[in-house]
Amino acid sequence: MLPASVIAVKRDGRELSDEEIRFFVQGFTDGRVADYQMSAMAMAIFLKGMTPREIATLTSEMLHSGTTLTWPDDGNLRVDKHSTGGIGDKISLILAPLLAECGLQNPMLSGRGLGATGGTLDKLEAIPGYRTNLSLTEIQSLTQSIGCVITGASDELAPADRRLYALRDVTATVPTIPLLTSSIMSKKLTEGLDALVLDVKFGSGAFMKTRELATQLAHSLVRTGKRMNVRTTALLTDMNQPLGRMCGNAVEVLESIDVLKGGGPNDVRLLTIELCAELLISTGVDPDLEAARLRCQRLLDNGSAYERFCRMIRAQGGNPEARLSIAMATELTAERSGVVAAINTEALGLAIIAMGGGRRKMGDPIDHSVGLEMLVRLGDRVAAGTPIVRVFSNQPESFRNDIQQAITIDDTGIGPPLIVDRICGDDIQ
Ligand code: URA
Repeated sequence: MLPASVIAVKRDGRELSDEEIRFFVQGFTDGRVADYQMSAMAMAIFLKGMTPREIATLTSEMLHSGTTLTWPDDGNLRVDKHSTGGIGDKISLILAPLLAECGLQNPMLSGRGLGATGGTLDKLEAIPGYRTNLSLTEIQSLTQSIGCVITGASDELAPADRRLYALRDVTATVPTIPLLTSSIMSKKLTEGLDALVLDVKFGSGAFMKTRELATQLAHSLVRTGKRMNVRTTALLTDMNQPLGRMCGNAVEVLESIDVLKGGGPNDVRLLTIELCAELLISTGVDPDLEAARLRCQRLLDNGSAYERFCRMIRAQGGNPEARLSIAMATELTAERSGVVAAINTEALGLAIIAMGGGRRKMGDPIDHSVGLEMLVRLGDRVAAGTPIVRVFSNQPESFRNDIQQAITIDDTGIGPPLIVDRICGDDIQ
């Protein structure tokens, strides 16, 4: 087989065979297929799409381009969640210890900030000493002893995705369902999971701007999980405003701790509970959603999820009691009276990056102390002069305009529902 002939199949809009996909991914991993050929293939896939079978084969080949986590046959179930990313999305910090407290092991491999969205690893690194570079052996042993870890993926896991993602990033081929699906699922499935839940976000702070596109992605992800024999469900959730009040790194850790102690903003608590409940149902731990929700509520309210979080942080070298440094707080106020009608959530994410809370380019250091606290939500009525955002920065004036312009106040706004749909394998062919 010649790489150029396989590219031509997709360029001409035809279906690739399993052998052709295998040849291409294996060749890319061992150097027989050059980066420029993989880039051409990515663009052909972007333009011509893929069938569910092609997507499943591509996912499987990328998954097997490296090693996978293996587990003893000890009766324990391993589960995880993936979010397509948003602003203020701190759910992983709460969910991992909550799952462990429910008796489900969670070897969570997370990422760093991407585009305007924050990254779980960047947030956790606000905790002094916390290590996000656990070895495969550490991931396996801590998952079994503590019940959860949150760490970065090592180079041995799905290396084809790591290299392909770097090419997609610079060839305008990131936002396409076949490549998003195979990238997300190949990485998650290296964890050797029994069940997976996906939080697929749409709206102004998400990669998928419309509900329709997010629905298509959710279907593709769930279908691929099902084809690969991992019980997979997805929630479709609104990202037209930040999740919770806090956006940034250290401030999001503090808000997560509030939720782990039974408090915190309602939307963060609700979404964490719903995602956890999905996994409790998929694995058969609870018979129905109501029982699963009650279990989660109890474990947050009685402090046991927080205790588990502290054990995980200590096991990964961090000090959960350390006082996190937060930059100076300044309040921005509404310039007119009215209703909060729209929030350009992506612009808020970009403002946090501009403050130093995210990276402009790979390898930039992060200022964990900066961030935002949303004092209003969509649909809230405000009077002129009411505080709408608290900015944590030592130079708040530099960001005032961008942040204020991201929040539209007029006479018409209404608050959207947070969770708008649930997609499970039974809904999908
Ligand atoms: N996150 C991923 O893991 N892969 C993508 O392609 C996009 C977001």
